[in-house]
Amino acid sequence: MKPTHKVLFVFCPMLVLVFIYYSSGKLHLHVWGHKPQAEPPLSVVAPTTRRTVPPDSEVDSTLIAGQVVGSVYDKQGFLLNLDGKLPAELSYKYGNLSEGMCKPGYAAAKMTTIYPKFMKPAPMFLDRNFKRLAKVSHYLPPFGFKTQERIIDLILTATKNYGLSEELDSLGCRRCVIVGNGGILANKSLGSRIDEYDVVVRLNEAPVTGYGRDVGTKTTLRITYPEGAIQRAERYESSSLFVFSAFKPLDFKWLRQMVFKEKLRGTEGFWKSVAHQVPREPGDIRILNPFFIQEAAFQFIGLPLNNGLMGKGNIPTLGTVAITMALHNCDEVAVAGFGYDMTTPHAPLHYYETVKMSAIKESWTHNISKEKEFLRKLVKANVITDLTNGI
Ligand SMILES: *[C@@H]1O[C@H](CO)[C@@H](O)[C@H](O)[C@H]1NC(C)=O
Ligand SMILES: *[C@@H]1O[C@H](CO)[C@@H](O)[C@H](O)[C@H]1NC(C)=O
Ligand SMILES: *[C@@H]1O[C@H](CO)[C@@H](O)[C@H](O)[C@H]1NC(C)=O
Repeated sequence: MKPTHKVLFVFCPMLVLVFIYYSSGKLHLHVWGHKPQAEPPLSVVAPTTRRTVPPDSEVDSTLIAGQVVGSVYDKQGFLLNLDGKLPAELSYKYGNLSEGMCKPGYAAAKMTTIYPKFMKPAPMFLDRNFKRLAKVSHYLPPFGFKTQERIIDLILTATKNYGLSEELDSLGCRRCVIVGNGGILANKSLGSRIDEYDVVVRLNEAPVTGYGRDVGTKTTLRITYPEGAIQRAERYESSSLFVFSAFKPLDFKWLRQMVFKEKLRGTEGFWKSVAHQVPREPGDIRILNPFFIQEAAFQFIGLPLNNGLMGKGNIPTLGTVAITMALHNCDEVAVAGFGYDMTTPHAPLHYYETVKMSAIKESWTHNISKEKEFLRKLVKANVITDLTNGI
């Protein structure tokens, strides 16, 4: 072989390698949602880090030294170095608001600093235009509404209302609290603090009567799936919206029967007994946008995609779904009653039952530990406020 051939023989594969290395760097930029910017070729410095960390911090200087984008974000796309500090442009925006004032757009803005892929617009509930929601129209429940379009159309024709309330929809700044059912809420006297929020979200059958001192008395939304719905008619509060969250196709059929006050025939296919009536007018019933289940599962927590079908350990808990909804629809988000207080291992599992924490069962559907990792990121970065410090 001639020497020039030898050189080419070595040089060509090297060019190919360099190209692959370079394009994979670019690929990272796309995967993490950055628009490729006008920057010198081969620069793979994260374009957004400048606004997420102060310019003089250590992190930034190591970045300028040429660290690769993929190592700044974790697999899910969250910033690795999380802290509660506000980046410069946010502290400019919010720094002058006095303590306790509602900060417009805060939760979404802080979320975007730790998770650049975050896109705020996502309606809370399905409305008559729901078929245009591209992200959910191709998934079966619980990640979308495919195959259920007709029945949803029918239900929405009856409910006629697709927002919160005139008053809440017109608020310039909306503060929401998601009240989980954890025993960690017991004896903390947080009730009056919870009631101060504009929107109080409760889950499934979590009771209020008799627990007001600890969990508050106000309920704006009660998010429910059939097996979790309050079964005794007299336990329904009269003022809240009944927000339905579907986890399987059969759930929509149940909702139709509830909305049209039909007799429930057979409860086959449910994993426990379900309510036979929901004593609410159609106008007080809403369907939660299934996008929040999809985004929580696949984007935020990183549960197995399983071809977009419900499978082992890929269903987020309702609490995390509610938090995901709030990130898109509230200016500030707080949570209470999530997680467990490790200093009191004999505390009850739920604030309204005597079952102990030791009764936690291995769940087939959920992945509690992975889910908790996600929630910890939100708390650590101050995207959400954890009133009971259990996350
Ligand atoms: C906040 O206050 C500082 C100092 O008083 C001022 O320079 C700055 O413009 C204010 N920011 C906003 C957003 O009003
Ligand atoms: C939860 O996720 C972890 C990490 O991906 C995995 O090892 C574990 O088996 C999962 N648990 C369940 C119940 O699916
Ligand atoms: C809360 O207080 C009541 C009454 O003092 C007590 O019986 C109960 O065990 C307490 N619960 C927890 C979780 O500490």
